[in-house]
Amino acid sequence: MSICHLFLLRIRTFLMGVLLSTLVCVLNAEKFETDIDSFGKLPDGRVATLYTLKNANGLTLDITNYGGIITRILAPDRNGKFDDIVLGYDHLGGYLKSSPYFGALIGRYSNRIGGASFSLGGETFQLNANFGTKQAPIQLHGGQEGWDKKLWSGEVVEKVDHVALILSLHSPDGDEGFPGAMDVKVVYQLNNDNELVVEYEATTTKPTVVNMTQHTYFNLVGDGSGDVLDHELQIISDSITAVDDTLIPTGDFMPVAGTPFDFNEPTAIGARIEAENEQLKLGSGYDHNWVLKQQDQGLSKAAAVYEPTTGRTLEVWTTEPGIQFYSANFLGGSINGKSGKPYEPRNGFCLETQHYPDSPNQSNFPSTALYPGDVYRTTTVFKFGVK
Ligand code: GLA
Repeated sequence: MSICHLFLLRIRTFLMGVLLSTLVCVLNAEKFETDIDSFGKLPDGRVATLYTLKNANGLTLDITNYGGIITRILAPDRNGKFDDIVLGYDHLGGYLKSSPYFGALIGRYSNRIGGASFSLGGETFQLNANFGTKQAPIQLHGGQEGWDKKLWSGEVVEKVDHVALILSLHSPDGDEGFPGAMDVKVVYQLNNDNELVVEYEATTTKPTVVNMTQHTYFNLVGDGSGDVLDHELQIISDSITAVDDTLIPTGDFMPVAGTPFDFNEPTAIGARIEAENEQLKLGSGYDHNWVLKQQDQGLSKAAAVYEPTTGRTLEVWTTEPGIQFYSANFLGGSINGKSGKPYEPRNGFCLETQHYPDSPNQSNFPSTALYPGDVYRTTTVFKFGVK
């Protein structure tokens, strides 16, 4: 082959490469859509943004960088009808005024830390308490101004097989009483398999504890459509971390077999919620951490939900060892949501993947400590479908 031929061949290969990548970009543009809008002003004048991510199937997520809150998920039912399947507000004011963590990212420590304190490396840390009593203070979901109330930095990234919102936050040393300055990144990724992949990453400057989660309240019939008692739930777990009357774990693992906590076979949420059971009474319903069967095995299926009238399904996969199933027992009638109707107890459900509550004070629970030089990394996937 002459030099000239070789040259022409190279040019042809190059041009084909350019053509192919342009084609991929064009196809990709048809697959995903994004939008960025203002979501209102915080009292200090900063502006919150609302990001919209939409995939080729029409599945649409609205997320604000205030608290990383998922404000809306439009998902199809078995007839292709789209409904908003999460609880919350359509304006920032609602979240600022009163929100039981609707759709929010929770940090540094989701769930409860008893005594609002913990010891690590021989030092005791006093945390800001936002729950419990003066005599028995508790820190819930990261304190008075947890990460659900912070304005994160946001960036939208479009790739060939997904679209993502990257949220970043710097949490200073001593934030809500926790040691160490932390840099945190959460990536919300939407792909065309109707999966919302949530990736958490964090580093610290001093030994500390961290346990993040996502606190979306789902209602697979649609927001404002009443209770979720007929939703069928499966949790792949043989025990819960039993709690006391302040919902702090006693340290005991309670086997679920033969109790209303056994969801290994899909069962309606409401089937046993009023049953005579000490743990149910303490939680005013379900508000407990299930110890997942698959531990340390990478991304594993933790839970699944099926709503019979719409056919909508939700699967939850995680790298975390536990999941808090909360049947929204404390949802008060005084809050009006997006539909304009007041929310009532049991109008939604949360499946919060996490480490066990109060782990920093429970030596028999897997550790939530993070040390300088190490990276905290967890992944949870919410997969939406129909059947
Ligand atoms: C979690 C807790 C509940 C409650 C809600 C928010 O799910 O476990 O007890 O605090 O958050 O209202």
